[in-house]
Amino acid sequence: MSLWGGRFKESTNQMFKNFNDSLKFDYRLAEQDIISSIAWSKALMTVNILNSKEQKQLEQELNILLDKVRINPKEILSSQAEDIHSWVENELILKLGELGKKLHTGRSRNDQVTTTLRLWCKVNIKQLLQNIFELKKILILTAERNQDVIMPGYTHLQHAQPITFAYWCLAYLEMFIRDENRLKDTLKRLDYSPLGCGSLAGTTYNIDRYQLANWLGFKSITNNSLDTVSDRDYVIEFISNAAISMIHLSRFAEDMIFFNSHEVGFIELSDEVTSGSSLMPQKKNPDALELIRGKCGRVQGALAGMMMTLKGLPLSYNKDMQEDKEWLFHTVDTWNECITISSLVLKKLTVNKIRCRDALKQSYCNATELADYLVSKGIPFRTAHCIVGKIILEAINQKSTLEDLDLNQLKNFCSFITEDVYSILDLQSCINKRNSQGGVSFLQVMHAIKSAKKNLSKSFKELKNF
Ligand code: ARG
Repeated sequence: MSLWGGRFKESTNQMFKNFNDSLKFDYRLAEQDIISSIAWSKALMTVNILNSKEQKQLEQELNILLDKVRINPKEILSSQAEDIHSWVENELILKLGELGKKLHTGRSRNDQVTTTLRLWCKVNIKQLLQNIFELKKILILTAERNQDVIMPGYTHLQHAQPITFAYWCLAYLEMFIRDENRLKDTLKRLDYSPLGCGSLAGTTYNIDRYQLANWLGFKSITNNSLDTVSDRDYVIEFISNAAISMIHLSRFAEDMIFFNSHEVGFIELSDEVTSGSSLMPQKKNPDALELIRGKCGRVQGALAGMMMTLKGLPLSYNKDMQEDKEWLFHTVDTWNECITISSLVLKKLTVNKIRCRDALKQSYCNATELADYLVSKGIPFRTAHCIVGKIILEAINQKSTLEDLDLNQLKNFCSFITEDVYSILDLQSCINKRNSQGGVSFLQVMHAIKSAKKNLSKSFKELKNF
């Protein structure tokens, strides 16, 4: 049964119906639509549209429906209803007859859809925060276990300065914490109830919107009804959070694909997250990571798509806005999946400490140290940089490391160099000297892990009280 039969003489063209209906994707909003319908029935009782017996009956029937959709949401898909809102209403009318027809009094699908969608966002933000929590946990654990694994840090994919595997983990931890905070910020802005805004200009019934918001667990209510039914900022924000986080995940994946490559070999991915080749028996491909890298594109596309959907739309609700859901659902599914798979990859990861250290041989990663050493002897940095450059050229010629050049050779480049230079060139010393706040020294990394653990237990408590 359609919701708007009265004014029409002809029936809907089937092709148009298929085009127009959103049930095939918005059935995922069933729980939230039922919950907001229960709250609306209570509001209708406060303005005497429903008596208490009627409200109870409606609430009871809605709760039965809620149990049903929780068990098997896909059953909804066999219905011919236009969207999830009409599906819920139709079900009530089927069960309760005339009483079911009272529920939509004073409400429009325009305030209903955005209420439902905001509630859906809240549930899914919680799920995402949960998954980010797991990722942070395993990342911290991996960092903790690999504090003594020294490896090259890169710029331009060229060996730059020595870092530790733990430090690399902590860099990504920072990104995921920012992603988490962005989600929490978005939640703050979307936690306002639209119910009671009607089609666009408010409702004629004297309902208490604050009470409604409270029943639904919203922090407060939205202000202007015209804005409320037009607003999908929270969808854009949600997707853009995902787009930023997917960029982080794709870089994380790419770093590991590189570390796992034959030439590099810093890590080995587990059989559980790799696949073989149909032809080449020796292959073990990093498909999980490549897919994370690849799926990033979909989410960037969804962000652009969602923005284009809203661009230039006149106020207030327009059917274009029905398109928001597929972008959002697809984004949230992809993001959740990529976070979970990233955790799985990390959980089973083997770090090859020897390969990491060996990579630093002849990489001249300690060149900056030598320049700083010359600075400590009173040479201006720019001059020191030039002297060290020449020493490196000589070392390359001799196929030697800096520390394997003997003192006389070094003195030829600069007479200030003395025996103490060798302890400076030691990798451990290179790392420990970078003891500035946030630097790579073992001490700084230890502090960072400690504070990361504190952050983790704070997130844990927050999730419990969500
Ligand atoms: N299925 C619609 C959507 O997702 C619900 C709102 C319909 N409102 C309307 N006035 N046609 O946007």
